[in-house]
Amino acid sequence: MPSLRVFLLLVALLATVALAAPTPAKLVGRSFKVPRSINTASKRQLNGMDAITKAYRKYKWGIIGAKRHHRGKKHGVKQPLSQGNATTPGNAAPSTAPASNGTGEVAATPENNDALFLSPVKIGGQTLNMDFDTGSSDLWVFNTALSTAEIGGHTAFDPTKSSTFKAIDNAAFSISYGDGSDAAGTVGNDVVDIGGATVTAQAVELATAVSQSFVQDTNNDGLVGLAFSKLNTVTIGGAKTPQKTFFDNVMASLAQPVFTVDLESDGSGTYEFGNIDTTRFTGPLAFVAVDATNGFWQFDSPGFTINGKAQQNAAASPAIADTGTSLLLVDDAVAQAYYAQVKGAVNDPNSGGFVYPCDTTPPDFGVAIGTGGYVANVPGDQITFAPVDATNTTCFGGVQSNGGSSLQIYGDTMFKSQFVVFNGGNQSLGFAPKAAK
Ligand SMILES: *[C@@H]1O[C@H](CO)[C@@H](O)[C@H](O)[C@H]1NC(C)=O
Ligand SMILES: *[C@@H]1O[C@H](CO)[C@@H](O)[C@H](O)[C@H]1NC(C)=O
Ligand SMILES: *[C@@H]1O[C@H](CO)[C@@H](O)[C@H](O)[C@H]1NC(C)=O
Ligand SMILES: *[C@@H]1O[C@H](CO)[C@@H](O)[C@H](O)[C@H]1NC(C)=O
Repeated sequence: MPSLRVFLLLVALLATVALAAPTPAKLVGRSFKVPRSINTASKRQLNGMDAITKAYRKYKWGIIGAKRHHRGKKHGVKQPLSQGNATTPGNAAPSTAPASNGTGEVAATPENNDALFLSPVKIGGQTLNMDFDTGSSDLWVFNTALSTAEIGGHTAFDPTKSSTFKAIDNAAFSISYGDGSDAAGTVGNDVVDIGGATVTAQAVELATAVSQSFVQDTNNDGLVGLAFSKLNTVTIGGAKTPQKTFFDNVMASLAQPVFTVDLESDGSGTYEFGNIDTTRFTGPLAFVAVDATNGFWQFDSPGFTINGKAQQNAAASPAIADTGTSLLLVDDAVAQAYYAQVKGAVNDPNSGGFVYPCDTTPPDFGVAIGTGGYVANVPGDQITFAPVDATNTTCFGGVQSNGGSSLQIYGDTMFKSQFVVFNGGNQSLGFAPKAAK
């Protein structure tokens, strides 16, 4: 099909030109919402081992399983993962020229196990269920370059059916996982519409191989990375050429350069871009400066509370806010101190971390947000992540150790009690307790 080749070549050339001279955003919209709702179709169970293994792989912390005090040591995984090989860095893409008025809503469906939260995203007019991940910066999708077996129950993006898709010549991406496996593919620009806000030239990464974990995770057709663009893994002609995230592309067009995350304890919730809805939280927002040097929404968290009683975390690692991680992963000494106060708690390598009898009500657990005194408090009845056995006797905690790593990862266990503002304008995070429903 020579004409198609010529066409693709032209498209690639045009894409190169577009990259060289990014079109400024022209969106005149204000804000848009992406609600999430429970996906009752999924029968999958919550699995603590899966959740912690996924996080460890995402941050390349080695393998879960045994003594996690010894940083860097490899320990065997004691049970197969059903959704392992995490959501590491993905890719996003080049530049942008938003087109819509940026106002709209879409329904979203997290997985039944609430390990991931998913939202419908239109790419070149095709709707996929995507996971919004503030801990990575790539927008990548299942697509028709994958085998039928890999696509399985996923919706696969078909670039040939998008009149707006433009391949980027010589562009590639590579997602690497903590266990050494990786995924790679091609990159193009297309129109990406989230809740009515549209970026006309968003880099979209097309996986040509995905790990088994993603294949099995049939609710998740890809990721929308919402960390800083520097983490994006796209290369062009072999040279690292990070592409802008959707948020970076759309930010200047928003009423305010923010998005907010409001997750419910049942896994439903709302992402909103461009507006801070003051009915969703109580009291003032406590803002903390973000250190974006590493590409994450990173901040200081020098202390913690147990049932409201403040304690210092002497050698506190910086913390990051990550909607793509289910758990609240804290410095090992903090996890030890907390579970010392939980009746019947033990660190069980076979389960992947701290477990306790399901009929125990753990104390509240709070993490300091910056040094201004605000504590993000998770009520005791929201600490439990999931049972580890069929009889619901033993439960896996939603607070776990980071295994001696140099980052604390504040994931969904924290978000369920906190309204969080991601401010890309002054690179800060704002926290407040969620409004009672
Ligand atoms: C945005 O566009 C939609 C559809 O074109 C329209 O219904 C809506 O009123 C517009 N919103 C704003 C704020 O202009
Ligand atoms: C993770 O990736 C490795 C290497 O690609 C693969 O052998 C393994 O089956 C994957 N595990 C899961 C749970 O996907
Ligand atoms: C960032 O901007 C917000 C307003 O959106 C302000 O309240 C906050 O204090 C600022 N934070 C920092 C760290 O500058
Ligand atoms: C365990 O809890 C789940 C819901 O969390 C429930 O569906 C299941 O029936 C329970 N099993 C037992 C044996 O109680």
